[in-house]
Amino acid sequence: MASNYDVVVLGAGPGGYIASIRAAQLGLRVCCVDEFKNESGQPSLGGTCLNVGCIPSKALLESSENYEKVSHKFQEHGIHVKGISVNISEMLERKNKIVGQFTGGIGLLFKKNKVTSIHGRGQFVAKSNNGYEIEVHGDDGIEILKASNVVIATGSLPRPLPGLDIDNDLVCDNVGALSFDKVPKRLGVIGAGVIGLEMGSVWRRLGSEVTVLEAMSDFLSAVDHSISKEAKKIFTKNLGLKIFTGVNIKDVKTRKKTVEVSFDHDDREQKILFDKLVVSIGRVPNSSNIGSENIGLIIDEKGLIPVDEKNRTNLDNVYAIGDVVRGPMLAHKSSEEGVSVAETIAGQEGHVNLETIPWVIYTSPEIAWVGKTEQELKRVGVKYKLGQFPFSVSGRARAIGETGGFVKMIADASSDKILGVHIIGPFASELITEAVVAMEFDATSEDIARIVHAHPSLSEAVHEAALGVDERYLSL
Ligand code: NAI
Repeated sequence: MASNYDVVVLGAGPGGYIASIRAAQLGLRVCCVDEFKNESGQPSLGGTCLNVGCIPSKALLESSENYEKVSHKFQEHGIHVKGISVNISEMLERKNKIVGQFTGGIGLLFKKNKVTSIHGRGQFVAKSNNGYEIEVHGDDGIEILKASNVVIATGSLPRPLPGLDIDNDLVCDNVGALSFDKVPKRLGVIGAGVIGLEMGSVWRRLGSEVTVLEAMSDFLSAVDHSISKEAKKIFTKNLGLKIFTGVNIKDVKTRKKTVEVSFDHDDREQKILFDKLVVSIGRVPNSSNIGSENIGLIIDEKGLIPVDEKNRTNLDNVYAIGDVVRGPMLAHKSSEEGVSVAETIAGQEGHVNLETIPWVIYTSPEIAWVGKTEQELKRVGVKYKLGQFPFSVSGRARAIGETGGFVKMIADASSDKILGVHIIGPFASELITEAVVAMEFDATSEDIARIVHAHPSLSEAVHEAALGVDERYLSL
């Protein structure tokens, strides 16, 4: 006998679990299907973000930053600590505990909101009169669900490097990179993107020699160029990452305990031996094996499911959100689409503004931005003004000893409307929210310049950047 639902959600990541909870809050009968199993082989809700992405990586980033502080930064405060050591298994245990609290928490939220949670792989089997029939292939066999509406929130998978197998021991993706049992002496990272830089920073601070091999000739090419230039300077000089750009990977040979990577750089072939290799060259939508052919769901050649501004697919009452659709592969974008889709299904006006999604790279210092970069504006010929304020002049940044980086605000030359804000510096992930709010309300740089910011606080750097758009810095 099939169970009937108003909404079946495929995937319990930050898109799917949020869509499920919001739809249930709106009085719909919801079932969320998820197939993820953790390292111990147990079903675990929360998708990549909670299990093997955002949450565990931030736990390790914090641990490694604390180690860095106690090893190198406490002395300047007059705090001298002897006998510092790292116990990697305790560090991983802490990370796993945090993951467990969050993934378990989703199960509780599902219960509280009366969302039915089923473990297994969901696949469309057929269209039926009032909706869709879905088979869930789980450990105990096949369960059939009937759904009036379906939300596809199946996320993404690491993009493979052709010919290279990931064993998550010597050659790792994001999963293996979060669980090294000891600090590798020589760590190689292919791809200087978000994951490569975050994981490279973690292991560098814990003592690895880290070499990052990037195909593009520009470092962080999608980021505002003045930010990426500053980031490269800080990551190489202060953090000690070795970064090669414009490389062409020729071969990767795995031996018993080492990996040899051959690559072309500056017209010369080079070989480097590593104890571990992380491959982080982007992610691809996880849209195969969902039975799309059984119902005529369109999936494009990149694996993305085409959707409109309300995340509607080519089929009535089938929606897709998060990493399987256009837009940035970011957890918070996926969650907002989840809310929007649930509200649309319930007859409300679901809405997501893709123009004001904040981006964050959790390196140290953090990088965060919203809106347009200078290079994008130049490309389309928009005239702009800008203000830029360094953290080295911020009293609060000096007090916390984090003086690298700056805030840059870009505003339209004639209307003064804020077009983009770019931050590299301490707590950039938190500071960017002011810019997101401002842009959502179509604020001008003058609006921010006229708002009182607490002193001493890091947010004064945002205030000063806004003042700087009109060339009236007060502290520069
Ligand atoms: P990415 O797209 O950020 O970076 C991949 C990098 O690999 C690019 O710089 C690309 O040029 C390079 N690359 C591609 N092929 C290559 C090759 N053959 N050899 C050398 N370099 C090559 O992808 P990443 O870091 O794997 O992250 C995947 C996704 O996960 C991103 O879209 C990101 O948004 C998301 N994510 C977000 C986080 C955050 O919000 N802080 C944290 C982690 C991941």
